[in-house]
Amino acid sequence: MNATTNTLSKLSQSTPHIGGIAILDYGSQYTQLIARRVREQGVYAELFPWNVDPAQVMALQPEGVILSGGPNSVYEPGAPVLPAWVLESGKPVLGVCYGMQLLTHALGGRVAGSQVREFGPASVTLGSSRLFASLPATIDVWMSHGDRVDTLPNGWQPLAQSSNAQYAAMGDESRGYYAVTFHPEVSHTPLGGTILRNFVLDICGCPANWTPASIIDESVTAIQTQIADGRVVLGLSGGVDSAVAAALIHKAVGKQLTCIFVNQGLMRKHESAQVVVTFGKHLGIPLVAVDATETFLSALDGVTDPEQKRKIIGELFIRTFEEEARKLGQLGQIDFLAQGTIYPDVIESAAKDRPVAHRIKTHHNVGGLPEDMKFKLVEPLRYLFKDEVRRVGTELGLPDEIVWRQPFPGPGLAVRCLGAITWERLERLRNADAIVLEELQSAGLLRGDTAQAFAVLLPVRSVGVMGDGRTYQEAIAIRAVTTDDFMTADWARLPYDVLARMSNRIVNEVAGVNRVVYDISSKPPATIEWE
Ligand code: XMP
Repeated sequence: MNATTNTLSKLSQSTPHIGGIAILDYGSQYTQLIARRVREQGVYAELFPWNVDPAQVMALQPEGVILSGGPNSVYEPGAPVLPAWVLESGKPVLGVCYGMQLLTHALGGRVAGSQVREFGPASVTLGSSRLFASLPATIDVWMSHGDRVDTLPNGWQPLAQSSNAQYAAMGDESRGYYAVTFHPEVSHTPLGGTILRNFVLDICGCPANWTPASIIDESVTAIQTQIADGRVVLGLSGGVDSAVAAALIHKAVGKQLTCIFVNQGLMRKHESAQVVVTFGKHLGIPLVAVDATETFLSALDGVTDPEQKRKIIGELFIRTFEEEARKLGQLGQIDFLAQGTIYPDVIESAAKDRPVAHRIKTHHNVGGLPEDMKFKLVEPLRYLFKDEVRRVGTELGLPDEIVWRQPFPGPGLAVRCLGAITWERLERLRNADAIVLEELQSAGLLRGDTAQAFAVLLPVRSVGVMGDGRTYQEAIAIRAVTTDDFMTADWARLPYDVLARMSNRIVNEVAGVNRVVYDISSKPPATIEWE
């Protein structure tokens, strides 16, 4: 098999790229961040469960391996282990936190158990090492570990220390093995990106070839291979992900793509009309718009459980697509359904890809699809983070108004209308939400300062007073967050006067609401959406 066929056959399977870094996931909440930080260096990185079939990793042909942190102790019965293939591969290895303990344990060093976790900021003094090239003598880092290394394995040298850890970093440089107790991937280790860059570019020798242009080239080839001369429908949601997926697929297979936009009655104010205009104008792709409000709202009647809402909506979307395809007289010919699923959706839905993670919510475009659906899935963004999707969108020539739209969840306002979903409550929510966005827009805070902002209608009523009368009405929560990757987020420190205007307008202009609260929770422990 020549190099091209090898690449093509690989692209049609799960791993979309050849070369880069394999990250073995031991369950740390930061594992995804390692992948993001490596990709920021222009190097592809992919997460695998620690006990993955080695053949799957070898298909990537990685130039190096990173072992993530994790909550276990190497001495616990049944604790995840270091698979033999990692050291047998002869590739450079970087162990982070639990990864460091695994390397120590596997190579004959000693790990000391500890009941106390070291968690938080620390200062680390660096020794001389390729891993720390071009870094100052002392750096700030983020520690989060329980056990620690007591005795180094043979051939390993201490490479850094902190006041609490004699071996804050260690290495066997002749074999390209390195390990750190701290987390270079989190923003609280401000120079951590340099450490990862030194590892992937210098020590592993990865070429920096993961760029928007190369992502597009590889995706187009992969889509063409998968779809061949088949027909594909794509559900546009109005968000950036499905728009970029549509543009990519259109570039790959042109007229074989038809976009379907389903108005489920759960869109934001004026959104369904805007989607039709914007997408028709900019993408020039045939677009079928369907009003399925009645169908969705009757299926959701009386449903209050968040997971059930997501499942019902996921299922109905597919049924609607199938019906539209049938109406177009094309059901027999349309083999594929394309979706804008992105990497965080995959990770957070804890689909098959990450058995150690706990299920957080069923993103309907990942876990909520009916098993008997008639389409095969095309998901060209399945391995991309949000910032990569935006850069790809810009590279494909999409306008800023599409690329920089705020993300909007597939299940729409259903997951922001807590409790029972009725048309009256949805309208209440839509009107409050429009006020939040208008006020942010006029304060110049809609892009950049707030990554996502919206209103949530709460399932509680409280007592208020309006004019001279008592009211007993519903409450709106305002949610506004700052985040780079939507996997962790902080609540936005919106100016008080902006919050005051939002609150004032909502209670005055939205019938049925007498109270407004501001959500000051970060993710974790909260999520961005309330359901
Ligand atoms: P959470 O609430 O999990 O949301 O912190 C993270 C980001 O994902 C969006 N989100 C979804 N996007 N389908 C999507 O396409 C979904 O089912 C879904 N649920 C949440 C959310 O708006 C935020 O940007």
